[in-house]
Amino acid sequence: MAARMKLKLKTVFVLYFMVSLMGLVYALMQLGQRCDCSEHDLPKDRAISRLRDELHRLQAQIRKLEATKQPQNQGHRSSLPTIFVITPTYARLVQKAELTRMSQTFLHVPQLHWIVVEDSPRRTPLVAELLRKSGLTYTHLHVATAKERKLQEGDPSWLKPRGVEQRNEGLRWLREDRRDQNQQGVVYFADDDNTYSLQLFEEMRNTQRVSVWPVGLVGGMKYESPVVEGGKVVRFHTGWRPNRPFPMDMAGFAVSLKLVLADPKACFDGEAPMGFLESSFLKGLVTLDELEPKAENCTKVLVWHTRTEKPKMKREDAMQSQGLGSDPAVEV
Ligand SMILES: *[C@@H]1O[C@H](CO)[C@@H](O)[C@H](O)[C@H]1NC(C)=O
Repeated sequence: MAARMKLKLKTVFVLYFMVSLMGLVYALMQLGQRCDCSEHDLPKDRAISRLRDELHRLQAQIRKLEATKQPQNQGHRSSLPTIFVITPTYARLVQKAELTRMSQTFLHVPQLHWIVVEDSPRRTPLVAELLRKSGLTYTHLHVATAKERKLQEGDPSWLKPRGVEQRNEGLRWLREDRRDQNQQGVVYFADDDNTYSLQLFEEMRNTQRVSVWPVGLVGGMKYESPVVEGGKVVRFHTGWRPNRPFPMDMAGFAVSLKLVLADPKACFDGEAPMGFLESSFLKGLVTLDELEPKAENCTKVLVWHTRTEKPKMKREDAMQSQGLGSDPAVEV
C-alpha cells in the first residue's frame, strides 16, 4: 500500500516535472521567435521595430531639447507676445560676422521669431547653416532685388533704399502664415548691421499699434528721436527734413502684428523719395498722435546704427595673384 502510494506520488511528480519542462521550452521558443523577427520579416514586426526606432529618436530629441532649455520660466514665456524680427541680408565679406552677432543677441530674447530674407535668387548655404545651428526659431526666405533697383558697385548707399523687396517678402510671409491666428505679436525690422540692447525688445513687446524710440548714431547725428511731451509724440528730433510724415529710422519703431495683418496692403515703397521709405509703410497704419513712445518717453538710446567697416582685401588680392590666397573652402 505504502509502496503503491510512493509510486503514484513519483508518477505525479514526474508528470509535474514534464509539464513544467514543456512550459519552459514553449516559453523559450516564443522568446526565440521574437528575437529573430527580422528574419521572419513579418510586416507587423517590421512596423513595431520601426515604431520602436521612432520612439528612441523622439526620446533622444526630448533629452536634447531639455539639455538646451533656457533657464527662464517656460510657462511664463509662452504667454508673452511673439516678436517677429524681419532682417534683410545680402552676401558680403562681413555677412557671417553680422548675422552671428545678431543671432547671439536674439538668443537672449524670449519668444522671438527671426525672419531672415536674403537678397538672392536662392537660399545660400552660409545663411541656411548659420540659422540651423543658431538655436533660434526662424524662417528663412529669399527674394532677389530687381536689377534696376540694385545698388551698383561704387554707388553711394543712400542712392537707392536697400532691403525693400526683402522686408516686403517678410511681411508677405507673415500675412500668409499667421493670417488665421489671433496671436499677440509685434513686428520689428532689424537690419543686420545695427547693435541692439536686450532692453529694446522688452520695450516693444506690448506694442498696441506702433511704438517708437530713439536710434543712436544715425542721420549724421548722435541720435534721432521722437520728441515726447506729456507722454505723446509731438515732433521729431532729426537733422534732415523733419517734416517728413515719419522722419524715423527703420530701427526706431515696431508695429503690432494685428495692425500688419489688418492692413494687407501696407508695405515699403521702393520708389519713395530718399528718406521716405519708413513713411511709405507707416503713413497708412498710424497717425502721429497714436505713436506709443517707449524707452522712458524716448529718453534712452537702446539701438545704434553701427556700421561695420568694409574689410580691405588688398593683401588677399595680392596673395591670390601669386596663387597664395586664403583657402576658399574656409567659410568666413
Ligand atoms: C512719460 O511721461 C508721462 C507724462 O509726462 C509720465 O506720466 C510718465 O510717467 C512718463 N513715463 C516714463 C516711463 O518716464
